[in-house]
Amino acid sequence: MAQATLHFPSDFLWGTSTSAYQVEGLNPNSDWHAFELSRGVADDPLLGCGPSCDWWADAESDLDIAAEMGTNAHRLSLEWSRIEPEPSVFDREAIDRYRAILQACHARGLEPMVTLWHFSNPLWLVEKGDFNSDVVVDYFRRYVSKVVDELGDLIPKWITINEPLNYVFLRYLDNAFPPPSERGYSAAMEALVNLLRCHAAAYHTIKAGYPDAPVSAASAMNIITTRPRNNVLDRWFAGKLSHLDNDAWNDAMQSGRLWTPLGTRRVKEAAGTFDFIGLNYYTRFYVRFPPKKGIVEREWEPGAVLSDGDYGEVYPHGLYELMAHVTNRYGKPVYITENGAPDAADRIRPGFILDHLRQVWHAISFCYPIMGYYHWSLVDNYEWERGWTQRFGLVEVDPGTQARRWRRSAYLYQEICRTYSISSDMAEQYAPEMLDVMFPG
Ligand code: BGC
Repeated sequence: MAQATLHFPSDFLWGTSTSAYQVEGLNPNSDWHAFELSRGVADDPLLGCGPSCDWWADAESDLDIAAEMGTNAHRLSLEWSRIEPEPSVFDREAIDRYRAILQACHARGLEPMVTLWHFSNPLWLVEKGDFNSDVVVDYFRRYVSKVVDELGDLIPKWITINEPLNYVFLRYLDNAFPPPSERGYSAAMEALVNLLRCHAAAYHTIKAGYPDAPVSAASAMNIITTRPRNNVLDRWFAGKLSHLDNDAWNDAMQSGRLWTPLGTRRVKEAAGTFDFIGLNYYTRFYVRFPPKKGIVEREWEPGAVLSDGDYGEVYPHGLYELMAHVTNRYGKPVYITENGAPDAADRIRPGFILDHLRQVWHAISFCYPIMGYYHWSLVDNYEWERGWTQRFGLVEVDPGTQARRWRRSAYLYQEICRTYSISSDMAEQYAPEMLDVMFPG
């Protein structure tokens, strides 16, 4: 068997990623809590957020775990509805709690990357129309300005908005996320434009306080394609979807022009508002046109390795393709801000981690500026409309007892982070099925 070790640069960031609503626990001021109540799932142990991972009371214990795992970075988000529970009323205790959490990251050698908005809104904002109305932009700027003043000294890297396209799709065109005041294509377009304006407002606000701090958004990017022999319409559709999913938002942060199949909108102030690419990557899927049902019907490669609950195909090479794509297109540093798989039994995760990191190593060897990798997620957490049915954690969580248990993947990630490398020995120990794929010869 070939023996090999693939080394990573000594300044590489090894991280994990979480978002506030998904780990903090009960937050009655958030639209997600209202959505759980309206669906009657708030108290359901499988579908309700409940105490989640109890981070509002104790994030520190899990940050201890992250440090013990050898990571040196963590991506987390702030909950707008906690910081500003009423319009213009800022909650001192909440701000102090976030200060403590950020200090806890620094104290453990975990560089925080902070997301300002990750899918959840204050209830009062929803009453004012949130992303259906451009009033959201001034409100968001006010919230960001408060965060910059109060917490900016502890935030070395910023993400303004998480996965805007995904959010708009799930909320305005699908029924998965909290219902907006108006659904449909034109409401979706308006919401996307308002998210872009919010991003631009946040970018400029952060830069006014901290001109050198890197700022970007995190985009969900997928490999979207057709089966090899599919027809020209399928290929056309896949091309359009792929451009929308993977390029539209990043292009808009570059040029200030947002292209969608519904038209192009100019948001001047968004031009040049990103210092790096935040790349969230999970899967590859095939599409056909017209879909048999819905807007997009995802199909997986026959025989593909799938993660739990039909979440998607495990396709590590897709990460390489996207890293190459964004580097060639924008020439900016790249952070893999999310990458992971739902896998309660930890059946595929060790191989998933090793092979995705091999792609990262490959990209770095070709001098692509890949600066860090944040695994989604450190701990099992509330997976939005799918509740606790999908488990993304390196560490298993029992939300009923708050017990933690390291999955084998956590021990693997620990070895990787501590040695800044992946190796054939690791593959042999944790994912022997990957040996021939990763280290042929
Ligand atoms: C989101 C996370 C989510 C993860 C797994 C990403 O799209 O940013 O909030 O938990 O995917 O589905």
